[in-house]
Amino acid sequence: MSNKMWGGRFGESPDAIMEEINVSIDVDQHLYAQDIAASKAHAAMLASQGIITANDAKNIAAGLDTILSEIGKGSFTFKRALEDIHMNVESRLGELIGPAAGRLHTARSRNDQVATDFRLYVRDTIDDIDHALVAYQRALVDRALEHADTVMPGFTHLQTAQPVTFGHHLMAYVEMASRDRGRFADARKRLNESPLGAAALAGTSFPIDRDATASALGFDRPMANSLDAVSDRDFVLETLSAASIASVHLSRFAEEIVIWTSPLVGLVRLSDKFTTGSSIMPQKRNPDAAELVRAKTGRIIGSLTALLIVMKGLPLAYQKDMQEDKQGAMEAFAALSLAVKAMTGMVLDLVPEEARMKVAAGEGYATATDLADWLVRELKMPFRDAHHVTGRIVAKASEGGIALHKLPLGDMQAIEPRITAGVFDVLSVQASVESRKSYGGTAPDNVRAQAKAWLKRLEKEQNSG
Ligand code: ARG
Repeated sequence: MSNKMWGGRFGESPDAIMEEINVSIDVDQHLYAQDIAASKAHAAMLASQGIITANDAKNIAAGLDTILSEIGKGSFTFKRALEDIHMNVESRLGELIGPAAGRLHTARSRNDQVATDFRLYVRDTIDDIDHALVAYQRALVDRALEHADTVMPGFTHLQTAQPVTFGHHLMAYVEMASRDRGRFADARKRLNESPLGAAALAGTSFPIDRDATASALGFDRPMANSLDAVSDRDFVLETLSAASIASVHLSRFAEEIVIWTSPLVGLVRLSDKFTTGSSIMPQKRNPDAAELVRAKTGRIIGSLTALLIVMKGLPLAYQKDMQEDKQGAMEAFAALSLAVKAMTGMVLDLVPEEARMKVAAGEGYATATDLADWLVRELKMPFRDAHHVTGRIVAKASEGGIALHKLPLGDMQAIEPRITAGVFDVLSVQASVESRKSYGGTAPDNVRAQAKAWLKRLEKEQNSG
């Protein structure tokens, strides 16, 4: 039997392999809520434009509501022979309300339908991810406030560089998440136009009202060009780009957690809730969640790359290639959501080893820059000379295997006679972080002020969202 939705000119049914490669219901059934919402908006518009009767529209809407609840309850049977969500819904509508169901597809095509459904789906996903990112930021801010004074080593090249505060380090990720949210919000703004009514590719001869369906579905306006409306997937690409960048941020943090929790480093501990054991080595506590967050990034960037490649050779307008836009994107968005939630969990769970952090912050002559700055400030030395003198003092200290703040004053004066005991005020890690009060710097007072400002902002967003 040929397909009853489009098989008028077909004498034979499709080959099994044809059906297998063509079918998309396993993936696009996740669009059911959006598909039904768009169909209801379309039917209501057709009636108010006098294209179908009010009675037909009423029956169509009631039938669609029944289908929505059947799918929600899990009692709906998706049929592979009906290819996709659009035809599964329409076919069931026919069973429920009879021939009036056939009027729903007036002045539309699956091409504008799927573009509309997926825009709505991606919009919903962006909202979900934004909520998850707000919760992640909130966790970071709370822990940053708690650890505004906790000193840790800051690194460049993964070598001890200068002391920073743990709170400052956490707040860096709040800023990154904020830009990630901004990218999602930008993508949302651009995607929020309605393709519905573009029909197959050229528009329709029926007197439809595209503004009405656009506003019923919460779109800002209808898309202006019917060819563009059915054939571009830049909204998916843009959202996947935002997801890729966000996942790179999460992955960097996850990598830090892996490093920090290594027994070789020992700066942070995760509880049993976010570690796993080894089946052979009883002593192990593995940071699997962090490792998996790091790995999900591959999947997310992979689906961006995959869709870019699907799209790059397609002429206008709709091509079936575009059916491949959904699976990777849906998986990527789910992976990102999970990664954000896992990172939020770890942020709330982790315990910094404060004593170890403080010792590590002082190792590797981390306050050498403070010494150089003192020479500039107190002795009016040009920074380059101060850098050189400090280098010689560090060499002297490391010869004896002693920390800078423990080096006898006489040893320093042997290199630069004008150095006074006042220098010791800047050589402790505590003094070092407290002095870094420049805007955006690591001083505990700065961190507290930034964290409090963020807390206010996030509380407002959480209440309004
Ligand atoms: N399942 C299709 C997709 O996801 C729906 C659109 C089909 N359109 C068509 N002309 N065959 O892209």
